[in-house]
Amino acid sequence: MAGVPDARTDAELLVAHVLGAPRSALHARSGYLDPAQLAALRTLVERRRAREPLQHILGHWGFRRLTLGVDGRALVPRPETEVVVERCIALLARVDAPRVLDVGTGSGAIALALADERPDAHIVGVEVSPPALALARENAERTGLAERVELLEGDVLGTADGPFDLVVSNPPYIPEERLASLEPEVRDHDPREALVASGLTEAVARGAPDVLSPDGWLVLEVGDGQAHDVAELLRALGYHDVRVTPDLAGIPRVVEGRP
Ligand SMILES: C[S@@+](CC[C@H](N)C(=O)[O-])C[C@H]1O[C@@H](n2cnc3c(N)ncnc32)[C@H](O)[C@@H]1O
Repeated sequence: MAGVPDARTDAELLVAHVLGAPRSALHARSGYLDPAQLAALRTLVERRRAREPLQHILGHWGFRRLTLGVDGRALVPRPETEVVVERCIALLARVDAPRVLDVGTGSGAIALALADERPDAHIVGVEVSPPALALARENAERTGLAERVELLEGDVLGTADGPFDLVVSNPPYIPEERLASLEPEVRDHDPREALVASGLTEAVARGAPDVLSPDGWLVLEVGDGQAHDVAELLRALGYHDVRVTPDLAGIPRVVEGRP
């Protein structure tokens, strides 16, 4: 046994991928795979058995309303990060033509989803990893949002010109000592600089007030068990209206506040 969690779902998605059909169409179909399809499927199943992430094998993955290209250059977008976008959308509800900075944009997931869902927004994404930034640029083209999302190579808040109405970040937040205990799909395939905590949470919390407009918001994704400490950090730095929102699994996941 390879230990693949929820292997049936993955198997169905791989069969659908080989057939070029949506997964929902599988049960309405009868008949067998032809030999070429079967050979292709065997190769994909072997990759999955070796615990390569399903998302890398398929080459794309859904995030909010978008389908993004995914590969080893950047973190696979996660469902919990969709809640981060949800909070940004809520906080910007009454702001016309908002300007948003996404720090550590990776695949571009947050930046592109915000551009998609707020057509009047201007979004800047900053990313320190050139390969991740290249993937974000491909995703901007793929989703037709390249005109509205500025993608810059840079460290922390970068050289992006403020003021912004909102700074958002899903920083790396896994403590180094926990890396070995992660599932192989994550540990061996997501980029290390996207996983291991390197102080970006605190750097963004300290730097955001300098680039935020007077009524601007900071929104941070945090790891399981970290929300309390990050909320306290924001309060200690003088942020107010600090609030924690759980993800769909009930884990406190998003911390927001305004300086
Ligand atoms: C957890 S990933 C998030 C990717 C994407 N925003 C998402 O939510 O799927 C964190 C990203 O931050 C980037 N990063 C790490 N340190 C950084 C720094 N000092 N400045 C800018 N980006 C950084 C990593 O390369 C990685 O792409």
